[in-house]
Amino acid sequence: MEKGKTSTTLEVKGGPVYVLCMRDHHGRYPALTVGQLAQRTGVATSALRFYENRGLIQSERTESGHRRYPRGVTRLVAFIVFAQRAGLTLEEIRVELEKLPAGRPPRGEEWARLSAVWTSRLAERIAELQRLQRGLTDCIGCGCLSLGRCQILNPGDRAAALGPGPRFWLGDAPSEPGKQRRP
Ligand code: FES
Repeated sequence: MEKGKTSTTLEVKGGPVYVLCMRDHHGRYPALTVGQLAQRTGVATSALRFYENRGLIQSERTESGHRRYPRGVTRLVAFIVFAQRAGLTLEEIRVELEKLPAGRPPRGEEWARLSAVWTSRLAERIAELQRLQRGLTDCIGCGCLSLGRCQILNPGDRAAALGPGPRFWLGDAPSEPGKQRRP
């Protein structure tokens, strides 16, 4: 970035994705080295370079070729880490990040919209884990018919008519007689 400028448009493959303010020449929001970004976010430098290679974050290069990250990237990295933990793939995360506004840092409501994606994904995972927990003691509709409760929940392996796999773990309810009789 030219001396004296306070913002920049960052280009990645496929066009500009994100624009961040940088106030590095006046000491208010100095750009971060990759080591500083790693220290601040708790994410290894190798992972940060990987994110950058995948187009999730962007840096600028100094004249000597070193990476410099706008300070706002720390929040992006936090988003990426949370989203991955919530089960989003890197491609899904990239698509979500592309929805951020160009030309200015995201506002609170825009971050909230973004985090709604992982909120719903977390709700799905919680429901899945609860089914998993129930399945540790209950019939899961897998066809083994090994538990006493299978006689109640899956008599004669009727769950097999719903499709392959442990049907009750996958979300089919054993108490839905219409579904269980599906040919
Ligand atoms: S646990 Fe396998 S069919 Fe019930």
